[in-house]
Amino acid sequence: MKKHLRLSLLAFTLSVTLFAACKDDKEEEITPNNPNNPQPAQCDTNNVTYSSTVSGIISTNCLACHSASQAEGGMILDTYARVKAVADNGKLIGVITHANGFPAMPKNGTKLSDCNIAKIQKWVSAGAPNN
Ligand code: HEC
Repeated sequence: MKKHLRLSLLAFTLSVTLFAACKDDKEEEITPNNPNNPQPAQCDTNNVTYSSTVSGIISTNCLACHSASQAEGGMILDTYARVKAVADNGKLIGVITHANGFPAMPKNGTKLSDCNIAKIQKWVSAGAPNN
């Protein structure tokens, strides 16, 4: 009986130690300087505007397929009014976050960075102003 108690105490101590070790590993993976895990602190969503932020992200990542001369899916995103329309109807956030029910954008390309998605989300939730 005493031996059993000692054994289970040993097992318990071991599992606590192992659990703690795993927990440490996890914390190491998300250190701020790990480029695979950019931290929110590195993404500055202050002063997000259409003209200085959103239009640049769209022009770099979307206009190759969504300009007047190349309007894939009939979608043109080259002016504030056109981007505002998809911001207001939910499609812009749906496609860039790869939400269910929306075609994932950029089509066949790499998803926008978390930071660029956060910036666009901030602009949309502010009412997608023409600023
Ligand atoms: C390589 C070409 C390509 C790129 C780059 C691209 N798209 Fe598209 N997009 C398409 C095509 C094609 C469609 C039509 C739907 C489909 O075929 O999936 C589409 C459709 C859309 C639609 C309409 C979705 C709907 O439900 O009606 C939106 C909004 C959109 N794209 C936004 C974007 C945004 C924002 C970006 C940049 C982050 C982007 N697209 C980048 C090709 C592209």
